Amino acid sequence: MGHLSIWSFPTRIVFGAGAAKQTGAEAARLGSKHALVVTDKGVMGAGLFAPIEASLREAGITWTIFDGVLGNPIEANVHDGVRAFQESGADLVIAIGGGSPLDVGKLVRLGIHHHRPLAEYDDAIGGDRYITANVPPMLALPTTAGTGSEVGRSGVVTLDVNHRKTVIFSPHLLANAAILDPELTRSMPAFLTAATGMDALTHCLEAYVAKGDHPMADGIALEGIRHVGRYLERAVKHGVDLEARGGMMKAAMMGAVAFQKGLGACHSLAHPLSSEHGTHHGLANALCLPAVCAFNAEVAGARLAEVSVLLGGEASPAGCVEAVRRLRERIGLPGTLTQAGVPRGNLDRLADLAFQDACHQSNPRPCTRDDLRALYEACF
Ligand SMILES: NC(=O)c1ccc[n+]([C@@H]2O[C@H](COP(=O)([O-])OP(=O)(O)OC[C@H]3O[C@@H](n4cnc5c(N)ncnc54)[C@H](O)[C@@H]3O)[C@@H](O)[C@H]2O)c1
Ligand SMILES: [Fe+2]
Repeated sequence: MGHLSIWSFPTRIVFGAGAAKQTGAEAARLGSKHALVVTDKGVMGAGLFAPIEASLREAGITWTIFDGVLGNPIEANVHDGVRAFQESGADLVIAIGGGSPLDVGKLVRLGIHHHRPLAEYDDAIGGDRYITANVPPMLALPTTAGTGSEVGRSGVVTLDVNHRKTVIFSPHLLANAAILDPELTRSMPAFLTAATGMDALTHCLEAYVAKGDHPMADGIALEGIRHVGRYLERAVKHGVDLEARGGMMKAAMMGAVAFQKGLGACHSLAHPLSSEHGTHHGLANALCLPAVCAFNAEVAGARLAEVSVLLGGEASPAGCVEAVRRLRERIGLPGTLTQAGVPRGNLDRLADLAFQDACHQSNPRPCTRDDLRALYEACF
């Protein structure tokens, strides 16, 4: 027998403008009486809970709000959420927000019946083997269009022990249903739209060129990239355009489905920028992606050329590097780590952390620690 590939597909997805009004019905399908809403203060402040609240009330479901999630969430956010779930007697997690609340929502479910220290569930050390189906159900309502966490199997959190952004991964962490309502993303400011959109692009692009044979992931990645090419600039420039907002929500969802195949060096470079310097995750990817495409050109040239065409560039790997740069510029993001406020002094530590990150293991071209350091250099 040749190389073995493992393929699987996820999640019930309710999509459309106004879909948030289905939250009560979806919660009722899961048998819920009382839900813990896991979110953050920005989401609450933007008034995004209003349609969800109305729909829960209509379905006769009560709720408690936990809005203590930070951007680039930390371990304490998970522990606080677990406590809130237990104290409120909830039977369902409803996570509403960008990747940060959705990820914390998944890890809150994990924490209800799984009592090891979070570090032991780290995917990089095979922690998924401790994760069982014994988790309460969850609904996911994304309010950004980037991470795709609503259909993904991972929760990302910065751990106390090593201060590293750590991926905790298991099929048991998949949401029971994702509710994708473009109206919830309309309040995103241009920067957040642009940065999260580049996260979606990076997921699709890294998955498409990642090592391994996964034609379903490849097909979805290409369609996701096509959506980014068609809708990202529109969504940034005309935030009220619900077709563009919906297109980007689909792109984000497709990115996370596609990256079940694997990610690559760009995500390994991005994670330390967030944990060390607080850089937004999508922006961190946008800053590193062209250099990673150039690094991968010699092994993934044909695929990068295809990606380039979908983004309106020339059919070559160099064209892809240029197309990503141009898109980044058109949507108003900075083009260098310097412009993004990252100091140069810390490069050795960043390179060490990037090398410890598991994502680059599926990069099509193997990376040494020094390759990753050179990639950072190329991004200043
Ligand atoms: N689980 C995964 O597979 C996966 C994949 C990629 C990234 N991530 C993680 O996701 C996190 C990033 O998520 P994100 O980029 O969605 O950002 P986020 O969730 O951190 O949100 C960023 C900010 O935007 C605000 N916000 C969210 N929606 C808004 C809206 N509609 N209108 C106005 N403001 C809004 C939030 O309040 C917050 O202040 C990182 O921690 C990253 O590591 C996870
Ligand atoms: Fe990402």
